Formats: sequence, structure tokens, C-alpha cells
Amino acid sequence: MDALGEAGPTGFIPVHVQESCTDCIDAAALEYTRKEPGGFYLSCPPQGEPGRGTEMTIEKESKRAALLSMKVPGQIRFTEARFLYQLGRRKGNLVEIGCLHGRSTSVLAQAAAVFNASLTSIDPFYVTPGMKQQGSAEIVKRNLAAVGLKPGKLMVMESHAAAAVYQDEVSFLFIDGNHDYEHVREDIADWAGKVKVTGVMAFHDMFMPHISGVAQAVTEWWLSIFDIHNVTWKLEGMTDFTIAFRRVK
Ligand SMILES: C[S@@+](CC[C@H](N)C(=O)[O-])C[C@H]1O[C@@H](n2cnc3c(N)ncnc32)[C@H](O)[C@@H]1O
Repeated sequence: MDALGEAGPTGFIPVHVQESCTDCIDAAALEYTRKEPGGFYLSCPPQGEPGRGTEMTIEKESKRAALLSMKVPGQIRFTEARFLYQLGRRKGNLVEIGCLHGRSTSVLAQAAAVFNASLTSIDPFYVTPGMKQQGSAEIVKRNLAAVGLKPGKLMVMESHAAAAVYQDEVSFLFIDGNHDYEHVREDIADWAGKVKVTGVMAFHDMFMPHISGVAQAVTEWWLSIFDIHNVTWKLEGMTDFTIAFRRVK
């Protein structure tokens, strides 16, 4: 037993869900859990078993996941890794566009393990100017293995081509691929419709100076779908340069 209790193979502690967990999981996850009690891992203390070392909150859990991800080379920051973990910690299908050397992949692999979600990472591993070492499927696998993790399915292709073959409903989508305006627009057009109601779509490099394409494409999309009388997506939040939207209809 480690300091956190009887951690499972993922490092998380399996406990039974309780109502008070609405603070740290979304309503859809809670509803699912009511149907399948005890079916997933949660970090709140199990009722009637105080002091079992399971007092770890989602804040601590996401901190631990983000700390591990910082050992993997990449571009998302610690605060963004925590945010990403909290957003991706859900059932269903997680999809990541742009994994490079695997840092965000390592965050999402940990988040996926909580509810046994599937994770698909898409990247053609293009050579980026100025990049000392370009990513590859092998590098991602090696980097994750070095911290005791495994990536999910790796689709080595462009996100546009992947969208044509990926048919499943997505519960969490992280877009961090080609940041040119046209490409971000295309990613939104290809992938936003695959996100299920209650699912979340997040973008990296929103408002990042010198990367205007993300802000332009995301803002245009937001303005195009925004209707105060018929809300279809809600702004979920923003941490550093990562912005997230939740689909409500
Ligand atoms: C900013 S990096 C991703 C950083 C990564 N998420 C991390 O945590 O460090 C962008 C990645 O997007 C990939 N990419 C470029 N064009 C793409 C496309 N059309 N579809 C999917 N990925 C693409 C690049 O190969 C690169 O690895």
C-alpha cells in the first residue's frame, strides 16, 4: 500500500461512488455511475470508510497526473495538463489531434484509465521547422513507456483523413494539431459534430501570440453557433492557452 491507499494498476484508488461526488465529476458521469455503482474509479472517500487514505481530491489527482506528464517532452504547460486531465477524466471515447512527443497523450492516457475510456491520438508527425526532434509513433510509445504509461490507438495521418474513418461518438476532443486558420476551421468542421451532447471540445494555443489561426477559427465558430435562445455549446473554461467548450444540445 502506498501513501495514497490501495492504488490499482493505474495508480488510482477504486472506490464506490457517492452523491457528494457531484463536486468533482460531471452530471452525465454521475448519472452513468448511478446505473453502474462502483463501476469506476473515483477519488472521494468511500462512505463509511473514513481515513482509508482515499481523501485525495480531483485537484490532487490531476496534479499527480500533470506532474507525471511533465516528464514527457511536449508543449502543454503544467496548469494546462491539469485542466486537460480534469476535462478528459470521463467515460467514452477521447480523441486527441496532435500529440508530437506525447505530453498531452500522457495526460489523456491517465484520464482515460479512470473510467476505462478509449483514447485515440491522431498525428501525421510532420517535420515542424525549428523542432529539434520530430515526433513519431515510436517516440510517443517510448516516452509514455518511460513513465509507465501506454498511448491508446495512434492514427498516423492528418486529422481530416482520420475524421473520414473515425465513426464513433466522442466524449472528449482535444485539438492541438495544425494551428493554421484553415486547418483549425477544418478540424472544427470535421470533428465538432462527433462530440456527444455533454461532451467537451478543447483547443490548445487559444490567444497564443504568434498563433492567430486558433483564436480566429475558434472565435468565428463560437460566433457562428452562439444563440442565447438556443444554446448548443457552453464555454466550459480556459486555463492558460487551453480553452474548452461543452456541448449541451
Ligand atoms: C503543437 S504540436 C502538439 C503538441 C502536443 N499536444 C503536446 O502535448 O506537446 C502539433 C502536432 O500536430 C501535428 N499535426 C500537424 N498537422 C496535423 C494534422 N493535419 N492533423 C493532425 N496532426 C497534425 C504535428 O505533427 C505536431 O506533432
